[in-house]
This record gives sequence, C-alpha cells and structure tokens, in this order.
Amino acid sequence: MTKYVIHGGKPLFGEIDISGAKNAAVAIIPAALLVDGVCRIENLPQISDVTLLLNILQELGADVRTVNRTTVDVDCSHIRNARVPEELARKIRASYYLIGALLGRFGSAEVPPPGGCDFGGRPIDQHIKGFVAMGANVDVRGGYIHAKASNGRMMGTQIYLDIVSVGATMNIMLAAVLADGMTIIENAAKEPHIVDLANFLNSMGAEIMGAGTDVIKIRGVERLTGGTYSIIPDQIEAGTYMTAVAATGGEVLIKNVIPKHLECITAKLLEMGVDVEERDDAVLVRRTGKLTRTNVKTLPYPGFPTDMQPQIAAVLCLAEGTSVITEGVWDNRFRYVDEFRRMGAQIQVDGKIAVIEGVEKFTGARIQACDLRAGAAMVIAGLAAQGTTEIGHIHHIERGYEDIVRKLSGVGADIRVVVTPDEDKQAQVG
Ligand code: EPU
Repeated sequence: MTKYVIHGGKPLFGEIDISGAKNAAVAIIPAALLVDGVCRIENLPQISDVTLLLNILQELGADVRTVNRTTVDVDCSHIRNARVPEELARKIRASYYLIGALLGRFGSAEVPPPGGCDFGGRPIDQHIKGFVAMGANVDVRGGYIHAKASNGRMMGTQIYLDIVSVGATMNIMLAAVLADGMTIIENAAKEPHIVDLANFLNSMGAEIMGAGTDVIKIRGVERLTGGTYSIIPDQIEAGTYMTAVAATGGEVLIKNVIPKHLECITAKLLEMGVDVEERDDAVLVRRTGKLTRTNVKTLPYPGFPTDMQPQIAAVLCLAEGTSVITEGVWDNRFRYVDEFRRMGAQIQVDGKIAVIEGVEKFTGARIQACDLRAGAAMVIAGLAAQGTTEIGHIHHIERGYEDIVRKLSGVGADIRVVVTPDEDKQAQVG
C-alpha cells in the first residue's frame, strides 16, 4: 500500500510548472483513432489515465512510439478492430470517447461501460441520443455498449443537448468529423478542453466551427491526415496549486498556464483575500493575511469548475465566517467531507449544499482519498494542517496529477510517498 505522509503547517514558496490538461488529453488520444497517418501529441501529462488510454490504443493495434517524456507519436491507420478490451476500459471514465471515435472511424464500436470517479449516477444518455440521431443503433449486451451506424457511416444532423455535458459534446464531435454532411450541436459545453479537442481535430484536417460557444458546427470530411499538436495546460491542476498556496500561505509562481482559463478560480481567491497577479503565461499567487469567507456555486464553464469544488472547500474551511458551497453539476460530490471532519473541519451537507464554518486550523489525521479531486483537496488540507496527515488510496490522485509530490516538495512542502506492506495481502498470506 502506498500513501502520502505530509508534515503540514509550512507556507509554500517558489515555482510550479503546470502539465498538459488531463481532460483534453483523454479525448485527444481517442481522437487519434480518426487520423489516417501519424499524429504527434505534445505536452501530454504523465498520469495513469493517459497511460491507460495509450495502452488501449495499442491493444487495438495502434503503433504508439514515445518521443520524449511528454510527446508520443500515434499511428492508428492500421487498426481494423473496433472492440475495446474490457479490463483496461473499465478503469477509466474517458473510455466513453472511444465510442464516438470508433463510430466515426469504422461506423461501429464495442466498448465496456465507463469507470472513473463515483459521484452518484453518471448517465451517458446524451452521448447516446447524439449517436442515435446520427443514424447509429446503440444497445448494451454482454457487458458491452454496442453501437453501429445503420448505413455504415455516421450521418450529420442537428442535436440539442438537454444537459450541458462536456463528455457528450466531445463524443458527438468525435463521431461527426468523418460523418456524411453537417452536424450541429446546440447547448454544447464550452470548457477549454472542448476548444482544444476541436483545435487538434482541425489541425488534422477536420472542419469544426464554434467550439467554445454553445453552438458547434462540424462539416464532415473524408479523411484526417497526420500532424503535430500540443495540448493546453491543465486548468484544474493550476487551480489546485493556487488553492494550495491560499490554504498554506506563501508565494508561488504557477507557470505554463493560460490565465484566462483560471479567471473563475482567480475571482474567488481574490474575494477571499488572496493576491493573484496574472502574467502572460503564469499567475503569481500570494497569501499573507487572513482568509475571508465567500460562497461558491459550481457551474459549467465559464462558471466555477466542479473539479475545483473540493479544493476550494479546503481553503474555505480555514476562512473566517460561514461559507456556502452549492454543487451545480454532480449529485454526490461531497464524499470528502467526512475525512475533512476528521481533521477538525466544521461542515454540514444537505443534498447539493455544504455549509462551512471556518476553523482556526486543520489537525493532521489518517484519511483516505475517495476520488481524484477529493484526494487533491485532502493533500491541500494536509499541507495546511498542524501535525502529520497520512493519505491512503492515492491511486485516485495519481490518475490526474503528474508528479504532485515532486512539484509540492519543490515549493517547500514536507510530503513523502511511503510504501507499507499491504495489510490485506498480509492477512491472506498469514
Ligand atoms: N449528464 C447526463 N447525461 C449525460 C451526460 C452527463 O445527465 O449523457 C449529467 C451528469 O450526470 C452531470 C452533468 O450532466 O450531472 C455534467 O456531466 P458531463 O457530461 O459534463 O461530465 P463528464 O463529461 O462525464 C467531465 C470530466 C469531469 C468533470 C465534468 C464536468 C472528463 C473525463 N471528465 O465529465 O472531470 O467533472 O466533465 O466538468 O473529462 C475530473 O477531472 O475530476 C472529473 C471528474
């Protein structure tokens, strides 16, 4: 068993480099399936979700060559197989992008239902609604989602999404780039990674217009050819380190970011009395005084991101007064609250609302990450806490944060990875 051990209470000082965006990478890797030639993908984050997706492409028959730490060449032109191996795909939420990409490339896809973080029900009905509107039959049997374009190729059409969904918007884009005719997605999501996927596909020859607005038009083309593309910096990784500095105090330059993507996070930190100074491709975050309470409501972009909700909660636990967080995207994203309470936080949850009474400090405890962003928030709480915090189940955190221990150690945090004998295995052996 591997855990993080953090001796908290130290302010952070120095510089942190932000990696490529996870939620762009997990769509762009499946998008390589649509490309007839070699695509070079740069600025890939080194995280387990990326490794898993590259392994899935290899299992399907792709040629994947590592160029350097953050760059791979992917050639999917020889793939003839549209059935995704079960064991790998179930470990990751983003495996659903393989449905859109395989449908676009072959007119058929067999993909196991997605895994990933558990925030209550995570339906994909809007993805399926889109595929069906484009002429596919979709059903679930034998533990697989089977999708097949009834006339062998996806057909362009107009699709109105009933819910603003990142996944459905990107999946329909993937199914549409090689479709026959024009696809129009209305009420589309506008997150930076949607624009990034569109830019990747356009750089390979697709014709996508309007990504970043709520109407996206995709004119189907016959073929995508290879090219080179560099993934945008990770908005949520940057936001996580911004909130870490807010919680611990100190001064850190967070480099290789697009400050515009961080405005929703910056605005909240400014309200809380944290200094944030925007540079061209960096933000300087400084906290010297006390934190002020505020309210946060998570919303689709450009609203405050749900993927920053647990991290901002960690900071609000240390602010003077009462703060209210309203979760506007997921049904069940307060599962970390019990662990925060073990560290001295005062939080009441009622459905999608959490009421936080600020406390003077967190105290170190033994806790367990329950999902990716909750785990990151626990690291933040541990960094700010008095005493020692041990965080288990860190595989959740490593799904989405490249080198988090090295990056935090580099700005003065006392955080270590500790490997202890697996108690369950020992019990079995004994
Ligand atoms: N929804 C439906 N039907 C659908 C799709 C979504 O009802 O067909 C609902 C969901 O239940 C949720 C809301 O719509 O209540 C938004 O879901 P969305 O589809 O936007 O989420 P997602 O695509 O499954 C991605 C990120 C999540 C992030 C959300 C929201 C990936 C792989 N995942 O999920 O990221 O929380 O968008 O921004 O891109 C994370 O990185 O920690 C993470 C969970």
